[in-house]
Amino acid sequence: MNYRHAYHAGNFADCVKHAILVWLLGELTEKAKPLLVLDTHAGIGHYDLNAVEAQKTGEAARGILKLQMRADEALAPYLKIVEKLGLYPGSPAISAAMLRANDRLIACELHPDDAALLRRYFAGDKQVAVHCRDGYEAIGAFLPPPEKRALTLIDPPFEVEDEFEKLTDAIKTAYRRLPGGCILAWYPIKHRAPLRSFYQALQDDAQRPQGLRDILAIEFLLREPLDPARLNGCGVILVNPPWKFTTHLPPLLSALMNGLGDNEPGQNFSIIRLADE
Ligand SMILES: C[S@@+](CC[C@H](N)C(=O)[O-])C[C@H]1O[C@@H](n2cnc3c(N)ncnc32)[C@H](O)[C@@H]1O
Repeated sequence: MNYRHAYHAGNFADCVKHAILVWLLGELTEKAKPLLVLDTHAGIGHYDLNAVEAQKTGEAARGILKLQMRADEALAPYLKIVEKLGLYPGSPAISAAMLRANDRLIACELHPDDAALLRRYFAGDKQVAVHCRDGYEAIGAFLPPPEKRALTLIDPPFEVEDEFEKLTDAIKTAYRRLPGGCILAWYPIKHRAPLRSFYQALQDDAQRPQGLRDILAIEFLLREPLDPARLNGCGVILVNPPWKFTTHLPPLLSALMNGLGDNEPGQNFSIIRLADE
């Protein structure tokens, strides 16, 4: 496990993922029923963008720091949370900030040092449980929850060859364990080839009687995805999206693009329906 999120915190891909997470949690917490958020790859929860790691890559300068210069209404809920939490907040900090009194967060992090930092960050918070364990395996352990409502966030580091296959299996497991649950899964976009087989695997599963339903792939491209050595964009799979996504997601993605894009050829976002309800 070489990946450390501290080098990448607040980069454009974090902004896209976290802005969508904030929107999604806003929608899911509109219903009074309690919600479980299961964050399978949680990181350390908060990141100092002035620390050596972040300064070394400078990625936040082309991400959150650039976005904060824009006053776009669609970004306000996300930017307010970032401002409120101080250090750049990771996914578990964002989720915890949006929980209501009866909601819970389970955050899994496999790296022992990172899990310890995360545990310290949430010390004393009774709504949050931090587990130092494999997040993929945790899906089978924690779903379905007693609440019967969950958002499963799967945000792997993509440092192993077969991460797309693992992610596909994780999405399928989360869906089988709680078919009505919402799933948000992040992936990198370097070039097109891995995406084709990833999307196809999800669509193949959707052909099965108990298979996946209601799947969106949201792609955010800073440029044409031609160079496989470069993070040219990112995407999220969203299973069981809130119905308001058709009106809420395009303005959000458009604001993110206006704030993060450099008008390179191929800059684009799209919402692709991979499987119907
Ligand atoms: C992309 S980062 C997570 C960032 C975080 N979700 C956020 O948005 O702030 C991926 C994290 O997963 C951890 N990790 C790697 N493999 C894991 C596994 N099998 N289970 C749980 N965590 C894992 C890494 O140590 C790293 O902290």
